[in-house]
Amino acid sequence: MKEQLKNILAQALEVINAATSREELENARVKYLGKKGELTAILRGMGTLSAEERPIVGQLANEVRAELEKAIDDASVKLAEAALEQQLKAEKVDVTIPGKEVSVGHRHPMYIALDEIKEIFIGMGFTVLDGPEIEFAELNFDRLNADEGHPSRDWSDTFYFDKDSKVMLRSQTSPMQVRAMDTMELPIRIVAPGRVYRKDEVDATHSPMFHQVEGMVIDKGVTMADLKGTLNTVVEQLYGKGTKTRFRPHHFPFTEPSCEMDVQCHKCGGVGCPTCKGEGWIELLGAGMIHPRVLEMAGIDTNVYSGWAFGIGLERTAMRRFKIADLRLIFENDVRFLEQF
Ligand code: DAH
Repeated sequence: MKEQLKNILAQALEVINAATSREELENARVKYLGKKGELTAILRGMGTLSAEERPIVGQLANEVRAELEKAIDDASVKLAEAALEQQLKAEKVDVTIPGKEVSVGHRHPMYIALDEIKEIFIGMGFTVLDGPEIEFAELNFDRLNADEGHPSRDWSDTFYFDKDSKVMLRSQTSPMQVRAMDTMELPIRIVAPGRVYRKDEVDATHSPMFHQVEGMVIDKGVTMADLKGTLNTVVEQLYGKGTKTRFRPHHFPFTEPSCEMDVQCHKCGGVGCPTCKGEGWIELLGAGMIHPRVLEMAGIDTNVYSGWAFGIGLERTAMRRFKIADLRLIFENDVRFLEQF
């Protein structure tokens, strides 16, 4: 039996050391040490031995088992190391190959203009507000003093959600004035940028969706002089010192008096050219003193408080700021266009 054990040991070691894969190693383990393995078979047969021989053979069998287990462990470590080495060799990185260029995103020119506008107003103590694009007609029209017959309320101009014309895509950012009056403590200084929607066909100067920035101040003793002074300051910061403005009378339901503000043409300096269509001036925004009825509907005492407001088209501001000729370029988001700013 001792001879048998020694033979098994020698044979098994040979098989184990020759193993070139985990599988071969596992097969060897099963063959010699498994339940039906050769070593196990010998241990089973020990009952036939004499009482003197049994412990000796038993001890030898245990030694053989221990030696085989160790050999298997060692071989498995070696195999793992070899496998890793091979993997590392296969995955070797050639650091001399040129890398892939990562293209970095770019701020949209309109948002560059918006950030500049926000920056200027924040510097003057204004708060920036965000509001819903789906708005109640009550806030978009009634609370802004636009009565039932006002043309902008027409179905051909406005995107309504319901037959009763109660909910709509806001057609202006002006309802943010009402939202501010309803929720904020006086005095109020806010700007509210966002998308607005009108049933317009797309062309070089129109889009059914565009952006406005609303601005509003309500405080004691606020006058038209504050409006002009503030907007002149904004225009000079946006377009450069000395940029001239012009205020023309106009009509909006929610302001009285109302005006439109023009900026002197940057191309011709006011002489008249194709950019300003010969006018010398370019229209920039609508503004005015908040109509007392609008303040009263918000429960504000018009004997104590007054205010002014403005609404500016953001696309137009960006187009002027960056000398962009066609509105559609702003929405197409062609990278070759965007990369220029
Ligand atoms: N909401 C107006 C429009 O879309 C613009 C406007 C004019 C806003 C005068 C104002 C304002 O706040 O005072 O045409």
